[in-house]
Amino acid sequence: MQAIVLVGGEGTRLRPLTDTIPKPALTLVDRPFLAYMVEWLAEHGVSEVVFACGFLPDVLRAALGEGEHAGVRLTYVIEPDRRGTAGAIRFAADSLGDRLDERFLALNGDVLTNFDLDALLRAHEERRARATLALFAVEDAAAYGLVRSDGDGAVLQFLEKTGEAAPGEVNAGAYVLERSVLDLIPPEREVSIERDVFPRLVGDGLHGLLLDGYWMDIGTPARYLQATWDILEGRVQTRVRPTAPGLLVGAGAEIAEGAAVGPRAVLGPGCTVAAGAEVRDSVLLGGCDVGAGARITGSVLAPGVKVGAGACLSGAVVGRDEIVPARR
Ligand code: GDD
Ligand code: MG
Repeated sequence: MQAIVLVGGEGTRLRPLTDTIPKPALTLVDRPFLAYMVEWLAEHGVSEVVFACGFLPDVLRAALGEGEHAGVRLTYVIEPDRRGTAGAIRFAADSLGDRLDERFLALNGDVLTNFDLDALLRAHEERRARATLALFAVEDAAAYGLVRSDGDGAVLQFLEKTGEAAPGEVNAGAYVLERSVLDLIPPEREVSIERDVFPRLVGDGLHGLLLDGYWMDIGTPARYLQATWDILEGRVQTRVRPTAPGLLVGAGAEIAEGAAVGPRAVLGPGCTVAAGAEVRDSVLLGGCDVGAGARITGSVLAPGVKVGAGACLSGAVVGRDEIVPARR
């Protein structure tokens, strides 16, 4: 089975972390986010992942490198201009040509999940669908694609980002597609699968399957942090080995005596936390230094951030190599 994974977006809601690192390449706990995706896909028999790249493709490519990961063959295609979610799938499909299977998976590159893709594939086959969407029930569907289906799973309505806070079943960003769906996507243009393609497939082979398990779109700071604690506290099974529940201290990280780190925290490799400093509910990617008496809560620091003595950060997202001035 082949999977096209969309990793070309600009990750605007995670700026400034994503100024220099595309969202799917960002480190989540101890590995690039994409590692989780490929490890999950490997468990469901995916043999090749085709990354549909756009924004900062070289950084993305360097995250997992060439060749394979978890036994899955890695292929990269790079869009020459912005294509949108459907345009990107079409571009990747055209790049593969005859090598693309008649039926394949397409996935958003920013969801951490343990969904049973085998069940999704079975449902697709049993219903002879053209496209089958994984659905997840949420309390607030406003930021997602809201999907209404009949009792047999045929999709009746697909509404992208209603903005209305109401519970519902949403598009989880994992699809089984037949090649024929590609005919609905004009080539060499920006096309959205959510706005332009799925609404047109309603009543014409579009199905959904409600799945349970763990599901999180990591595309905002709050959800990125939540995914971090879910991994470190075991609410989703991954290959990560926490230092303690809720805590990961990377190789070579140093915590001075009298500093307080955790119970929830990630200290990336080579971070230092000086005496009297506090780091709570926060992620510090590699090589950050926290000065004496500084206090960091609910924040995400990109690699190489220096926090001066006595400084206070709460709910902050700080970009690569930034310097937070000391405060007396
Ligand atoms: N290659 C490529 N080209 N990838 C793209 C492009 C593009 O032009 N635009 C977006 N992407 C990728 C992003 O990198 C991301 O991995 C994925 O497509 C989805 O984009 P997001 O920007 O994260 O979309 P969203 O989270 O607001 O909404 C989408 O995901 C929700 C579930 O998490 C939609 O699919 C919703 O319907 C869905 O509910
Ligand atoms: Mg997203």
